[in-house]
Amino acid sequence: MSTSTSVLCSNDALRNSWYAVARADAVGERPQAVTLLGCAAVLYRDPAGAVVAAPDRCPHRESPLSPGAMVDGTLECPYHGWRFGAGGRCVLVPSASDGVPPPPRAHLPTFPVTERYGLVWMSVGTPAGDVPVVAEDDDPAFRRLNTPVDVWQVSATRMADNFLDITHFPFVHTGTFGIAQETRVPKVELGPLDHGWFGYRYEVRARNDALANAASGQTTEIVERRMSSGFTMPLAVRSTIQYHTGLQHILLLLSTPIDDVTSYFTFVVWRNDDHTVPAEEILAFDLAIGAEDKRMLQQLPGVLPLDQTTLVSVQADKCSVEWRRRLLEFMTPTS
Ligand code: FES
Ligand SMILES: [Fe+2]
Repeated sequence: MSTSTSVLCSNDALRNSWYAVARADAVGERPQAVTLLGCAAVLYRDPAGAVVAAPDRCPHRESPLSPGAMVDGTLECPYHGWRFGAGGRCVLVPSASDGVPPPPRAHLPTFPVTERYGLVWMSVGTPAGDVPVVAEDDDPAFRRLNTPVDVWQVSATRMADNFLDITHFPFVHTGTFGIAQETRVPKVELGPLDHGWFGYRYEVRARNDALANAASGQTTEIVERRMSSGFTMPLAVRSTIQYHTGLQHILLLLSTPIDDVTSYFTFVVWRNDDHTVPAEEILAFDLAIGAEDKRMLQQLPGVLPLDQTTLVSVQADKCSVEWRRRLLEFMTPTS
């Protein structure tokens, strides 16, 4: 697989998938500009509150629409004030005489869009699958915590790969939970995890410095984590951390290709805690871990090679190797 800048953006299977592109609460008073697989889009809410995703290009003179204003539940183009409502329909051309409707081609084409887990999910094609399933979202014992959508200067393929990898913990996560001397990992056994995820289970001893106490719910110097990490196609990763106290901390780690080498990163947390510790205190630790991954990953060039020969892999890379094999298969046309 080459690292030219259209490997991901031009791939039909990737175009026909869902990705998280924005926080749902970022779309409302203002339109929001996002880019997915090289397609610049604008997100806005119609008068009924439904999110509309459309190319960020006005059909009149090609002005970007995202700098426009929301007026009476419609998106107003900043150039000549054409307004767009539900389903991308052009509902007003201010220069037109009374009674003259907007021309049919004034309506915006739209992208598939949906809201789930506090996020706006979008596809630039026709989604073949569903948004990744986190069943705990429907379980009242769990609360959901959302984090900002950040931009990382790295391919989304390298991000998902990193989220499946545990052997970087002692080297990259030295400022958070990594224990420098604990470099060996047990033999990786792959298998189905719950609700369609596929991956592996493992145990990690993690440092539990003051910043980690809110997330772990413990104050001992070291905590034992029973964990699993798994993927669904193409780029979603779920990690589950279970402490001996019964506390579960679930992470949905989302890598969205803006283009081949630039990505959105956001993650969602579910916890079956007593809901008393403020979200910011809990998330501070995971955000610090994410910053360590970002610093490392932004040094890696181009798209991750998916073939079985370019990279050198060892037993501990088994999950990554299997995900790469499946992703390549997913991206390869069958006919
Ligand atoms: S360019 Fe949008 S209204 Fe003219
Ligand atoms: Fe990491």
